[in-house]
Amino acid sequence: MSRLCKPIILIGFMASGKTTIGKELSKILNRDFIDTDELIEKRVGLGIKEIFQRYGEDFFRDTEEKIISEVIKDDNTVIATGGGCILRETTRRLLKEKGLVFWLKIDPETVMNRTDNDNTRPLLLVEKEEKIRTLLAQREHLYRETAHYIIDATEPVESAVSEILTSSGMI
Ligand code: S3P
Repeated sequence: MSRLCKPIILIGFMASGKTTIGKELSKILNRDFIDTDELIEKRVGLGIKEIFQRYGEDFFRDTEEKIISEVIKDDNTVIATGGGCILRETTRRLLKEKGLVFWLKIDPETVMNRTDNDNTRPLLLVEKEEKIRTLLAQREHLYRETAHYIIDATEPVESAVSEILTSSGMI
């Protein structure tokens, strides 16, 4: 299968711009846009924070894994994933095998700035700076292992979009 027939997958840490960049890419490439966090919320009938609070992280990860395995079957899509989807080995393998995967790479300072007034992300509700640094350090090799391309996402949205399009030969 040609890589241009594969779903385009955006992975990366919280606030790396997966949704914003994904929506932009889907317009340019005339593909459907899918946000896995949004699908999880719809399926469970609760916001992400409430899902974590009521059912715990393992339940959230199980649902996330299931939804990714479903949506990856569609080819003509751009998929924005949740920042922790790479924690599951089966998901990492599935994404890499079935999709064209872009890691939107950012540094802790940018995450701090972009999540300044945000209290919707359950993993960053307390000891935010410490959490960002620890989680990023724990996950970096998993993003790297899953990605086909690494994109500098500290830059404005337009730059990341054009880097994705040119580096992958889509334009
Ligand atoms: C998470 C990232 C969130 C969401 C959940 C867990 C993570 O998605 O899936 O809060 O573990 O990094 P975003 O990356 O879209 O914020």
